[in-house]
Amino acid sequence: MRQHLSDAPDWRYLVREFHTLYRNAPCGGSEPIRRHLRRVVDTLDAVLAEDPEVLPRTPETRPVTAHLPRALDLGSRNTMAGLSDALARVRDGLTWEYGYAEVPAALAPNYAYCEILGPQGPVRADGLILGFVLFAPDTVYPQHSHRDIEESYISVAGDWSQNDFGVHAPGCLVFNPPGNEHRITTGPDNPCLLAWAWIGPAERLAAPGMVFS
Ligand SMILES: [Fe+2]
Repeated sequence: MRQHLSDAPDWRYLVREFHTLYRNAPCGGSEPIRRHLRRVVDTLDAVLAEDPEVLPRTPETRPVTAHLPRALDLGSRNTMAGLSDALARVRDGLTWEYGYAEVPAALAPNYAYCEILGPQGPVRADGLILGFVLFAPDTVYPQHSHRDIEESYISVAGDWSQNDFGVHAPGCLVFNPPGNEHRITTGPDNPCLLAWAWIGPAERLAAPGMVFS
């Protein structure tokens, strides 16, 4: 029997937390960021109105997921507790992956991401992917960009920098328009957990072709 989001409370509340986060996120006076937030919320509204299918996916871990408990501990006591605690509820069902055909040897133990909603599920949707990316302390995530895809990262735990411009604490949002080259570094003391959204053409989201620059 097909399962739908209304029958899967833990996934439903996690997606709800994303919705609340993007609906209430400030745009800092930036018109492109305001449009991006609106696009994510509008697309998510349309997805939720259809009561999407929840697809079974095989749970997978990567070496970096050993840092997830600490990231969730940090998230549960900052302003991102709603999202962090909802993520903790589904932690045993997450599929952590690399996404890249070739992962640099130095990155493999220190990085992985999981999807919450998107063409591959677990919550089935077109036109939008919501997920989390986890980094070990002191990680360099090499330079990359995303063709045709708008990306935002919202910090849940730990501290990080993009392109050496500023330091982002929990609750901060960083926006990458399509093609924007970015490289991430994380602080030495704690893992870094970021929520992310990708919005773009369905065919590109289904096959994003992730490569490092
Ligand atoms: Fe990115």
